[in-house]
Amino acid sequence: MPAIITSLAHFVPPDIFKNSYFEDKIDTNDEWIRTRTGIIERRFQVEGALTDMLVPAVEQCLSERGISATEIDCVIVATITPDNVFPSAAATLQKKTGMVNAWGFDLSAACSGFLYGLITGAGLIESGAAKKVLVCGGDKMSSILNFEDRTTCILFGDGCGVVLLEKSEDPAFGIVDSILKMDGNGGEYLYMTAGGSAKPASFETVENKEHYVVQEGQSVFKSAVVGMADVAAEIMERNHLIADDISWLIPHQANLRIIDATARRMGLDSKKVIVNIEKYGNTTAGTIPICLSELYHDGKLHYGDYIVLASFGAGYTWGSILIKWGMK
Ligand code: UT7
Repeated sequence: MPAIITSLAHFVPPDIFKNSYFEDKIDTNDEWIRTRTGIIERRFQVEGALTDMLVPAVEQCLSERGISATEIDCVIVATITPDNVFPSAAATLQKKTGMVNAWGFDLSAACSGFLYGLITGAGLIESGAAKKVLVCGGDKMSSILNFEDRTTCILFGDGCGVVLLEKSEDPAFGIVDSILKMDGNGGEYLYMTAGGSAKPASFETVENKEHYVVQEGQSVFKSAVVGMADVAAEIMERNHLIADDISWLIPHQANLRIIDATARRMGLDSKKVIVNIEKYGNTTAGTIPICLSELYHDGKLHYGDYIVLASFGAGYTWGSILIKWGMK
């Protein structure tokens, strides 16, 4: 039997930073940011770490399912901004939420982290290795942004989402299909220079601001437009679905123009495309679970809906997942 999402929740920090926040700090303006990206504002977590955002999301997710933290078998945290390099954010989250019977780990796949995590968690459910898996996706991007670099700091925000996976009772519902891809040649266009074993942190690396996101925007843009659209169209084709069959596209929120290109390739009406980039910017592994949770809690996800998740990000990593929604 396939794995199915049986509960979900998200959290975004309360502090809102509008585009105008950057205007007196770097050479940018609201108009440029809106027209090039679609972003109007984002949330930054002023205090605390990634797991402090995940705790309320996990608690809401468990409470809406009516289960206790002790029932979770495994917790996966997709992120590039864990509280610490080690122990894992998963271990810290386990302690903070009382998931005493869970094992777990962090998963690093940048903007595609949630998709990778979902398929990993689904595999554990389908194989019978676990009964209840929490898949979390989120990032505190403000912890790795160079606020003097106008080409990156305006793009990102902080936030996270969580889903609970269990075994579906009906083979037609749940995670139906997935296409996951990776191309390490993309690594040179979106990365962090220092802080890993290749270049450990030193006075010099800090002085040179090498612990921040570096992105060659246009190169990533060109690959993202093609990559995300390709996998989204392919998953429809190979499941014999046409645009009318799809209820929602939930794309990674990096740039409104990349989202539009993906929807066009799928032949989807813009009304079926979930966009919240204007409120949150790019929360990396958080974008897709936040969109999914907002859609669900707004009452717009219905039993039997086909939804396509699609992402593209650092690595490069990209992919699409087809879900037949099974929550009533
Ligand atoms: O989620 C992970 C994956 N990431 C992505 O998918 C991001 C993909 N890339 C993008 O979304 C876009 O490339 C950006 C939004 C990052 C940039 O948009 P763009 O249309 O590709 O702009 P550009 O990099 O070609 O820059 C155009 C101009 C440049 O000035 P010149 O050389 O034409 O004089 C930039 O220096 O805009 C300038 N610029 C800015 N101007 C005002 C760059 N950043 C800014 C800024 N404000 N913040």
